[in-house]
Amino acid sequence: MPAFSASAPAKSILFGEHAVVYGRPAIAIPISNLKTHVYITANPKGKPGIQWLEAPNIQMKCFSNELPEDHPLRVAIQIVVDFFQLDHYPACEIKISSDIPIASGLGSSASTAVAFIRGLTSFLGQSLEQSVINQMAFQIEKITHGNPSGIDNTVITYEEPIFYIKDSTIDFLKIQNPFYFIIADSGIKSLTKSVVSQVKKMWAQQNKKYEGIFDKIGKITQDAKLALLNGDHVTCGKLMTENHKHLKTLGVSCDLLDHLVDTALEAGALGAKLCGSGQGGNMIALISGEGEKERIRQSMLAAGAVATYFTQLKSGK
Ligand code: PMV
Repeated sequence: MPAFSASAPAKSILFGEHAVVYGRPAIAIPISNLKTHVYITANPKGKPGIQWLEAPNIQMKCFSNELPEDHPLRVAIQIVVDFFQLDHYPACEIKISSDIPIASGLGSSASTAVAFIRGLTSFLGQSLEQSVINQMAFQIEKITHGNPSGIDNTVITYEEPIFYIKDSTIDFLKIQNPFYFIIADSGIKSLTKSVVSQVKKMWAQQNKKYEGIFDKIGKITQDAKLALLNGDHVTCGKLMTENHKHLKTLGVSCDLLDHLVDTALEAGALGAKLCGSGQGGNMIALISGEGEKERIRQSMLAAGAVATYFTQLKSGK
């Protein structure tokens, strides 16, 4: 039986997380060496409209109709059925495997949504415009995260660095000179939905202060866009570290993330910050070249990171 496969990358937010939910710009990059894979095989003996789902990363092994109706995977199947005006989705076996740590700020939910939609579509012998995949993934992200800005599904769908403003702008950044990053996982699981809703509560209570911080982060992101476009590593690094300070003031960092940021800077990184919703998850450090990779990676592990990843942005990408 032929198997159909699809994939989608992880992502990191380089600038502007949280502020992006409040209309300020953010910059995100794909992490193409970490991926979610979806494999689909036909099951001619299966019951029409029912799929077998296996996702070892989240200990899932069940039929689709055993999931709650509002489960993101079940909703994704329904979205595809509605789009192609089918009576039901064919019986099949779907396996989802992922290199991306969950609840860690690297976009595992959006990556799963995009890979899953791509897999479901190609199994039908169809293809979809990227913009349609992005919209579908956004609908699924809303179930997972409540009030997402849409940056995760967008950078993951297009797999290019983006400058993003909610409901208005997607600029694909043509970056000068390669940029090299080490990402380090604090090992602390943190749910985007709950951190975003804590920030919302604080924003409502201390509106002036939070709006002021979001403005500062927005300015940093605008400056960072120029630094990236100009291939200016030093400025980009400084802006990352400045962005981290504001994230700390917002209350979304934690001791280990701060320690990993300080360690990266002491080890010679050009800049470092937490990435994603925070209070756990990952941080990202800009390093000056591939030669620095091993030394900084070892420093992060010695400082308490449970895993590290290396990624690079190539020129013109
Ligand atoms: O934690 P992540 O990787 O899902 O990133 C969330 C980014 C936020 O700005 C905090 C929320 C959003 O929807 O943009």
